[in-house]
Amino acid sequence: MSEISEPSFQERLDQRRAELKAVFLPQLKDRRTLTLEVGAGHGHFLTAYATQHPERFCVGIDIMSDRVNRGLRKRDRARLENLTFIHASAEDLLAVLPEGVSLDGIFILFPDPWPKRRHWKNRLMQTEFLRVLATRTQPGAPLYFRTDYAPYFEYAREVVATHSNWKIGSNELWPFEHQTVFQSRAPTYQSLVAHCVP
Ligand SMILES: C[S@@+](CC[C@H](N)C(=O)[O-])C[C@H]1O[C@@H](n2cnc3c(N)ncnc32)[C@H](O)[C@@H]1O
Repeated sequence: MSEISEPSFQERLDQRRAELKAVFLPQLKDRRTLTLEVGAGHGHFLTAYATQHPERFCVGIDIMSDRVNRGLRKRDRARLENLTFIHASAEDLLAVLPEGVSLDGIFILFPDPWPKRRHWKNRLMQTEFLRVLATRTQPGAPLYFRTDYAPYFEYAREVVATHSNWKIGSNELWPFEHQTVFQSRAPTYQSLVAHCVP
């Protein structure tokens, strides 16, 4: 009797990224630049941002498919052609981004805070993630980070301040305000703007 073996981690990763390419790349068309929101949730912020910035192609990603679907419904109701939401992790999206396509701005708004020290490795704002992100970001392009969890803000500020690929801006204005779901629940929050160093 022949045994059917489970796919390996690498096989599952390859399969997932192949499926992501099949969904995402046709939507890119011939665009060479995109504005990315990582962890876009229900899509409130990026839908409003894309409405106000028709010249930008905006891509919101989230690992929860129901949130992506809610974002897509908002996009369709608003009839926006410069906006899409994709079911993907940040790591996978960056891995499948074609050569020659770059990011002109990144928003990370109220990411999961992972308060317990043993879970800090799950936080998005990590040295290695920011290194990979910088390889796909235009020189000087901004990264906008906002959180209501003060210890995460301090952690992220330290990671960015000591990173060779990002420089924290001083007294920079937030470019566009529109409340996210998590922002509406937050009594206070802090924001950070950094720019990609060529
Ligand atoms: C706390 S929620 C905030 C959602 C939205 N930004 C807001 O402010 O309402 C964080 C979101 O990030 C998503 N997320 C977590 N890790 C992610 C990753 N590696 N790539 C993409 N999305 C991620 C989660 O599924 C969740 O929807």
